[in-house]
Amino acid sequence: MPVYEQHGGYKALRRVVGELQPTDVIEEVKESNLRGRGGAGFPCGLKWTFLPKDHPGPIYFCLNADESEPGTFNNRILMEEDPHQVIEGLIISCYATRATTAYIYIRVEYPLAYERLQSALDECYAKGYLGQNILGSNFSLNIYLHRGAAAYICGEETGLIESLEGKRAWPRIKPPFPAVEGVFRKPTVVNNVETAACVVHIINRGADWFKSMGVPSDPDNPRDAGSYGPKLYCLSGHVNKPGCYEVPLGITTRQLIEDYGGGVWKGRKAKAAIPGGISMGLLSEDEFDLPLDFAGPGKAGCLGLGTAAVVVMDETTSMVEFLHNSCRFFDHESCGQCTPCREGTSWSVTMLNRIRAGKGRLKDLDLLLEIGDTIGIIPGTTICGLSDGAAWPIKNAIRKWRDEFEDYIKQTNPTGYMETEPVEV
Ligand code: NAI
Ligand code: SF4
Repeated sequence: MPVYEQHGGYKALRRVVGELQPTDVIEEVKESNLRGRGGAGFPCGLKWTFLPKDHPGPIYFCLNADESEPGTFNNRILMEEDPHQVIEGLIISCYATRATTAYIYIRVEYPLAYERLQSALDECYAKGYLGQNILGSNFSLNIYLHRGAAAYICGEETGLIESLEGKRAWPRIKPPFPAVEGVFRKPTVVNNVETAACVVHIINRGADWFKSMGVPSDPDNPRDAGSYGPKLYCLSGHVNKPGCYEVPLGITTRQLIEDYGGGVWKGRKAKAAIPGGISMGLLSEDEFDLPLDFAGPGKAGCLGLGTAAVVVMDETTSMVEFLHNSCRFFDHESCGQCTPCREGTSWSVTMLNRIRAGKGRLKDLDLLLEIGDTIGIIPGTTICGLSDGAAWPIKNAIRKWRDEFEDYIKQTNPTGYMETEPVEV
């Protein structure tokens, strides 16, 4: 804590509780256009305004630290290396939203982050930054650390809430959204760790500073909220220098690989990259010049920026093996409540197993695409976004690398690849 304070730590909190009203904080965050860093990019300030205005309380706050999207580790680094920044952002966010109890739901696989956050929380209580009447104000807040239940679905906000309440992490049907009915059926804000960390800097340096970085909103598109501020990009896979790099939103995949990742490893060329976690789909190498902002990956037929976790694959990577791994992941992590998700993820694995066993048919590619389209784009057929996330790697891999899939099937099943009758699975 002393080091954090020496560098201006908790200055924003002092200013907030001493000089600002909760609505002032909300306005500043709204003005900054801060968009949620957990994957969906929902405007943070707007989300806070969804809380009922005159609710007598309690209002709860959940910091989603159940970071599970493959390739994503920016929250872990923030919590391990700078836990006070995360906690200061959380306290300010609770002040803005009038929450008096907050939970940090942290994935169980992050023991070091848990330990460091707990020490930092203890220091905050000792210093009067947490507990009753924070810094002599009439604002009181308790923060509890809660270990996750080791499943991807626990990071879905309503799955997280169910898990926090001691139940199986089955996502809830929305609406009602957590802002109206969340933890213990009370109004609740769920924000990502990096989002909370951004709030500290918005209070210290102002919304204009935040908006001086990134990609501005498109004036011709009123629905485009822009992509402002710094972002922690996770870079992994086949690069020389994998790591977590903080740069303004809008860097391209190519810049990230060349300028920060030291290029593709072993002197090879890149073939593909996941733009922001596996559920966003895939960029091919010729799409690497698109900006990695909230709109960019969508222009290449991906779902979006997601968690900005870029996983690079070199030219030797088999897309069949990639897709097999992706499908196995989503099949394993589907909670099974919704038929399209439960059956679709399971059938995609069965079909890829069949292809890899030398029994694939060209027709299987269309069947896989049908699964991708069925579980991915029909609104209202599933409770949460996991099935949509499972669909994008299937759709992108087969549509962008169809020739490779066809060659694989022809080579491994030379006598049966044209078969159209049902075959044994
Ligand atoms: P979403 O778009 O459904 O919701 C985003 C946020 O806005 C939620 O907090 C939701 O409650 C709120 N919201 C949306 N409409 C609202 C309304 N009308 N009223 C009140 N609140 C509203 O997205 P979701 O399912 O929360 O997140 C999906 C994303 O999560 C994926 O795109 C993926 O990138 C990401 N993800 C991240 C992971 C990680 O490890 N960080 C793991 C898995 C997925
Ligand atoms: Fe569970 Fe999948 Fe339905 Fe989400 S979409 S609630 S993970 S079955």
